[in-house]
Amino acid sequence: MIKDNKIVITGASGFVARNLRKHLSEKNIKLISISRSNFKQFKNEHKIVSKNYDEKHILPKIQNSAALIHLVGIGKQSIKTDYNMVNVEFTKHIVNLCNKAKINKLVYPSGLGVSANTSLGYFISKYKAEKIIVNSGLNYTIFRPSYIVGKDDLFTKYLKKQVKKGKIEIPGSGTYLIQPIYINDVVKVILQSIIQPKFRNKIIDLVGPDYITFEKYVKLFSKGTKTKIEKINLEDVYHDAITNSKSDFGVDDLNILIGNFKGNHNKLRKITGMEFQSVVELLKSGRLL
Ligand SMILES: NC(=O)c1ccc[n+]([C@@H]2O[C@H](COP(=O)([O-])OP(=O)(O)OC[C@H]3O[C@@H](n4cnc5c(N)ncnc54)[C@H](OP(=O)(O)O)[C@@H]3O)[C@@H](O)[C@H]2O)c1
Repeated sequence: MIKDNKIVITGASGFVARNLRKHLSEKNIKLISISRSNFKQFKNEHKIVSKNYDEKHILPKIQNSAALIHLVGIGKQSIKTDYNMVNVEFTKHIVNLCNKAKINKLVYPSGLGVSANTSLGYFISKYKAEKIIVNSGLNYTIFRPSYIVGKDDLFTKYLKKQVKKGKIEIPGSGTYLIQPIYINDVVKVILQSIIQPKFRNKIIDLVGPDYITFEKYVKLFSKGTKTKIEKINLEDVYHDAITNSKSDFGVDDLNILIGNFKGNHNKLRKITGMEFQSVVELLKSGRLL
């Protein structure tokens, strides 16, 4: 189905999109990738540059594609871009485009921790995006990812920068738990979700096999280097996040980090039939550094 039909990817220059486009291109799948600014194409890839994904420009180019993978999203707000605009309204726009272009399949990464009971602005916007997709009549697969890590994600780049400076700062106690998943596994799961009917109309946690404290993660990440690890008062980190738009951690980065969100890895393993890379093993081997 996929090889003679095309896959559309939005937010093409983002972290997940870059890795996914590379993977799909290597599998000889034809791509139509959309970004707000220019980017380098892979093999089998058609490029669309569009500031606001206006219908007139986009629609004729994506008609009858096999699926759309919607990778536009923000995790930090400003006066120029807020969650409602990007995570909710833009998703509505993309769902409309899918319907008009007769694209039947939509894949969307929401977030681990999203639920009807959430009180967090970021999760509320992702919940609303999920609802728009679920009620769209499209065949959807929604993933709820924990930290997706690789060589070039923001979190890893942030830690590498700190290692270079010789000191990693941990917000608060560092005893809160995270469940990272390796990007190379994520791109394989996304491809499966397009091809295999068992992913139809499902919401699935996208989490790795390890559930580890942030402190352990950081220690393993910087293993073999002379990096000092220092715990920073959580109030100070929040204060910086609230008052400084350029702070390393945004308010919701911190909310998510200390939230102890845990997903169902077994369900993911069962439905994909894949063996997942342990991020702890990756860290031990120094492959993320
Ligand atoms: N990475 C993770 O650990 C993680 C975890 C949970 C959920 N997710 C979700 O997965 C998706 C992709 O994540 P990512 O890590 O790849 O994020 P990313 O690197 O920040 O990429 C997101 C992309 O969204 C596009 N975008 C941002 N603001 C936009 C706007 N105002 N209008 C149109 N496009 C806009 C940009 O694409 P262009 O610059 O190409 O236009 C940007 O590169 C997001 O929805 C994110 O919430 C990621």
